[in-house]
Amino acid sequence: MSTSLLESYETKKWPSLSNLHGISDKTLEVHFGLYAGYVKNTNLLNEQLAELTKEGKATASNPSYAEIKRRLGFEYDGMVLHEYYFDNMMANGNGQAPTGSLRDAFARSYGDFDTWKKDFTTTGALRGVGWAIAYQDPNTGRIVNEWVTLHEDGNLAGFRPIVVMDVWEHAWLLDYVPADRPKYIEAFFANIDWKACEKRLIAGSAT
Ligand SMILES: [Fe+2]
Repeated sequence: MSTSLLESYETKKWPSLSNLHGISDKTLEVHFGLYAGYVKNTNLLNEQLAELTKEGKATASNPSYAEIKRRLGFEYDGMVLHEYYFDNMMANGNGQAPTGSLRDAFARSYGDFDTWKKDFTTTGALRGVGWAIAYQDPNTGRIVNEWVTLHEDGNLAGFRPIVVMDVWEHAWLLDYVPADRPKYIEAFFANIDWKACEKRLIAGSAT
């Protein structure tokens, strides 16, 4: 008898993401491939952990177990954050500011959309590789812009990611020189799917 508690993660596809403003199809193709690597590695690490458990080797003193455990957050967050990122972009974005409850959430937390955007843009311009993420606090409904180093250092536990922007160099270096990260950030804004972001808001929290 062979039963497994494990369910592998599927690699998602975004076939409608092409011809974006300022982000080339080549960049997207490479980026989708990198994302697939995180899905593959998340599945692999979970399989290895299950195997160690089965063999009675899932102990804190086992270096293999410890190393896999420490890597798990990197791979998981690499998978999940890329899904948020690709999900919150769209072809034919109009570059306009959001409306409705999302606009209200930004205004409540930062005064107005432009002030929120300026802070989010500045967050994304920080030195190093990582992510700029506008989170919503589930307790207060307020939005806070956060810097996440790599994929796993800085995520706010229990907060809801609303706008997720990849600022690893692989996200734009085929399209821009390193000093032009701000141009990539502006391109990201031109491609944001605000409706997708709005759907992430915690119900009843934005007023
Ligand atoms: Fe990425």
